[in-house]
Amino acid sequence: MGLRGAPGKVALLKKVQLFEGLSDRQLQQIARLADEIDAPTGKVLARAGDTGREMFVIVDGQATVTTSQRRTLQLGTGDFFGEMSLLDGGPRSATVEAATPMHLLVIGQREFFELLAEAPLISKCIMRTLSQRLRKSDAAFSMCT
Ligand code: CMP
Repeated sequence: MGLRGAPGKVALLKKVQLFEGLSDRQLQQIARLADEIDAPTGKVLARAGDTGREMFVIVDGQATVTTSQRRTLQLGTGDFFGEMSLLDGGPRSATVEAATPMHLLVIGQREFFELLAEAPLISKCIMRTLSQRLRKSDAAFSMCT
């Protein structure tokens, strides 16, 4: 169960970049599909190697991502994570831990694919973000070789 009713949730979704440009009807659909959770500092939200069953959108707070190459990076308000395992069915590629108290939206695997089918803008935003993360990751890797 979410922490607030549907109208409050839609207002929250409007502030998230991933959902930019979506219609009110689409936002209402996402509000129905997504759960809201709070996570205390230190909470591990995804652990490298585990099976991933949901993705997360950060509404408020910061998370630290530790990749398999032991690189760490920060994600903050408006960022999302946990999408990779859902997309390719592989294990979690990194560990993601709350660096501050966090407020998040959680979207399960079935709901995630419903959203991608329903809202091409979301698919586009996720693909763009994946491309940007790959470029940054390649750049960081080439600095060490
Ligand atoms: P997933 O593999 O499901 O679980 C761990 C998540 O950490 C992953 O999805 C991405 O959302 C995120 N992640 C992994 N590597 C990076 C990276 N290099 N930059 C940003 N986020 C990442």
